[in-house]
Amino acid sequence: MQVAKDMPSAIRMNEGGEPAPQAVYEKVRFLVSGNAVVVFTISGCCMCHVVKQLLFGLGVGPTIVELDRDAAGGEIHALLFRLHGIRRQRQPVVPAVFVGGKFLGGIETVMACHINGTLVPLLKDAGALWL
Ligand SMILES: *[C@@H]1O[C@H](CO)[C@@H](O)[C@H](O)[C@H]1NC(C)=O
Repeated sequence: MQVAKDMPSAIRMNEGGEPAPQAVYEKVRFLVSGNAVVVFTISGCCMCHVVKQLLFGLGVGPTIVELDRDAAGGEIHALLFRLHGIRRQRQPVVPAVFVGGKFLGGIETVMACHINGTLVPLLKDAGALWL
């Protein structure tokens, strides 16, 4: 299992790119470190719906951040875009799923982890699932 880089080191790795505005970075870090599972979405995004339904189906109640309803949505979107790039994931920016404070990935990564059986252990480790 490829271990997800935690946010700070992932950001630090992005030496060529522009740093995210500090306030937005802090906001995202606060959100993902304070909640076992966080899903960044845009309302009306089909794959966001799919990933939420998958998590609900597993018994997880993720924290959902809708970027189009968030004042900092545009800047968070830019930050997530960079995270995907750092991980070389050619996936849509949303949904972006964080588990246990770490960036797991987008729809393809979450589905792949679900299929290969690593998603549930990850969710348990993060305290998002008890059984
Ligand atoms: C499961 O899939 C994820 C996402 O593609 C991958 O990073 C991980 O290495 C895989 N783990 C196993 C045990 O196959």
